[in-house]
Amino acid sequence: MTPETPKLIPAPLSAETAGGPGFPLDAATGVEAGPGAERTARWLRTAVGAATGLPLDPAAGDARRVRLRIRPDLEGDEAYRLTVDAERVLIEGGGPAGVFYGAQTFRQLLGPDAFRRAPLHAGRVWEVPAVTVTDAPRFRWRGLMLDVARHFMPKEGVLRYLDLMAAHKLNVFHFHLTDDQGWRIEIRRHPRLTGIGSWRARTKTGHRASPLWEEKPHGGHYTQDDIREIVAYAAERHITVVPEIDVPGHSQAAIAAYPELGNSDVVDTSALSVWDTWGINPNVLAPTDTTLRFYEGVLEEVLELFPSRFVHIGGDECPKDQWRRSPAAQARIRELGLADEDALQSWFVGHFDAWLTARGRRLIGWDEILEGGLAEGAAVSSWRGYAGGIAAARAGHDVVMCPEQQVYLDHRQAPGPDEPVPIGWVRTLEDVYRFEPVPPELTPEEARHVLGTQANLWTEVMEDQGRVDYQAFPRLAAFAEVAWSALPAPAERDFAGFERRMTAHYRRLDALGVAYRPPAGPLPWQRRPGVLGRPLDGPPPHR
Ligand code: ACM
Repeated sequence: MTPETPKLIPAPLSAETAGGPGFPLDAATGVEAGPGAERTARWLRTAVGAATGLPLDPAAGDARRVRLRIRPDLEGDEAYRLTVDAERVLIEGGGPAGVFYGAQTFRQLLGPDAFRRAPLHAGRVWEVPAVTVTDAPRFRWRGLMLDVARHFMPKEGVLRYLDLMAAHKLNVFHFHLTDDQGWRIEIRRHPRLTGIGSWRARTKTGHRASPLWEEKPHGGHYTQDDIREIVAYAAERHITVVPEIDVPGHSQAAIAAYPELGNSDVVDTSALSVWDTWGINPNVLAPTDTTLRFYEGVLEEVLELFPSRFVHIGGDECPKDQWRRSPAAQARIRELGLADEDALQSWFVGHFDAWLTARGRRLIGWDEILEGGLAEGAAVSSWRGYAGGIAAARAGHDVVMCPEQQVYLDHRQAPGPDEPVPIGWVRTLEDVYRFEPVPPELTPEEARHVLGTQANLWTEVMEDQGRVDYQAFPRLAAFAEVAWSALPAPAERDFAGFERRMTAHYRRLDALGVAYRPPAGPLPWQRRPGVLGRPLDGPPPHR
């Protein structure tokens, strides 16, 4: 009988099963790391040690060891080779990240119980099947964006998402920290940003069965110590945290805290509070020196906290009406010799592009930053379809493809009336699996500017972790395969094969406690009403 091919997600380049006995993991097994691989050995001891209850001591198991090694001759830092036979496990990576991804695959081979936080029962026998896996990612930017402004996710939830990302070999966490509805990061020199800006007095829920607004405050923020912990936790898992401070739109929470940041010659900004509804907000930043100096101060603290080369400045959905009506904004346009309000936004973005570049960083923004001319070194998150990404790549700018119709995971995943989130169009698991980040319009040369791809989780209608899980999973597993694996063209992708591998992956997600949308049977709130929310029966929320 031919041995079964392991059900790995995301699919590796190759997995060759040898047959014969596998590697037994027991109390005598050691985990031992060569230079550069120590961090992953620590992670393995923590994660697999917790699930199995085994010590995985570095000094143990002279004969039977899991060995972690850097092999620079492997193709790229993130590439790995995993060799398992009855006597040994060898995890080799092109660099430290490759060793980590090899260890992640090793955990999948151990079985779903290896994803638990504690052993299910003592004394069980663990065996890894004999196999050789050779693997490397397709894209270097394999991202997930989480909006913690519309609904705050406490630090522990964020750390959990970093673990879930790592289990899917995703490596960029785009942290959407500020918006009209809340400012979520402590900035020491501007304490009112969180003191006032992190709470809204009442909140809207996504449930049609609920009143439109719930008369309860919503808020929360991360202290700078929290942020340091999140960034370090991510780094241990080879994830870069890209912070987003959204300007000049999506800024009402900041204006509520510091009214001088708004267009106070056309609106009484001192009367504004943190926004308590969803949509595109007219109250945008005033294009003044006060605003520039204020946000330079914000970014100085952001740069101290986040080592990421890229810093996201938002730039999306900035209505220009207040700038059109504001004598001060119009005077600024004349003084700078600009054509119009679009050019004023370009000037604003260009200021921060130069500011970040002078500090060794790179600006990335949503594709609206193309309007009025793209700043020289800027990169683009292409969300309004592919068009912005295509234009940017053709102009020689780097691009992250995250088109709304394909990879906005807040969109509903089935047409049925029980689906809890009615936003937009249906994006099924199969739709996400057939998403192609590189559009055919790009030449191979232009396509080199596509750094990769990212799934986005906007949380207007996800007020708790169960809701976020439900929207993210299982689609994030399909997305991870798009970002990591060498898949053929969309029409040729073996979705049935992916679904077969998902049968094993659902068991892993169960062990991780992920409240995914089940492939069949009742939805979570039909099984446990009141725990994960209720079905909807009102008008769709607007974004
Ligand atoms: C966005 O969805 N407004 C980037």
